[in-house]
Amino acid sequence: MRKSQASTNRSPYYIATALILAVAVAPAFAASLKSIMSEMRDNTSSGKAVLANFDSASAKEIMQRYASEAQAASDMFAGQGGAKEKDLSSRFKQLAAMADAASQAPLNKASFRKAFAEVTSGCKSCHSAYK
Ligand code: HEC
Repeated sequence: MRKSQASTNRSPYYIATALILAVAVAPAFAASLKSIMSEMRDNTSSGKAVLANFDSASAKEIMQRYASEAQAASDMFAGQGGAKEKDLSSRFKQLAAMADAASQAPLNKASFRKAFAEVTSGCKSCHSAYK
């Protein structure tokens, strides 16, 4: 796994490489909540690096990745009977919609910081309920 690159290396080159690898490798992962969560964790590390060293193309990719990861998680729980699964599916769907909207808006450092804070507060709120 090359996951640690984004969190240990702060240079834009490594961030870009990690993003490209992650996007290329993502479809090969079996859909499991743990694997999606670990992708989200890596994307969050990349997001922190982008905040420290902003560029709008990487910022957009971070939001696109959150959107597709969250959509995959929402789909995984969709159509399952339990109240918990329904709530997880809807929380992930909301996160996906928010990240998708952020990815399509022009991102500067301030708007990326705001969107990133919204996403990570979505992580925290769901974890405090279910993790
Ligand atoms: C809608 C609910 C929900 C949201 C939103 C969510 N998570 Fe999670 N997350 C969970 C649950 C449930 C677990 C426990 C999974 C398990 O142990 O099987 C978890 C576990 C994790 C783990 C531990 C994985 C492991 O291998 O044990 C990490 C890391 C993580 N989440 C990161 C994130 C990040 C980063 C975000 C936001 C970008 C996020 N999560 C958003 C529900 C959520």
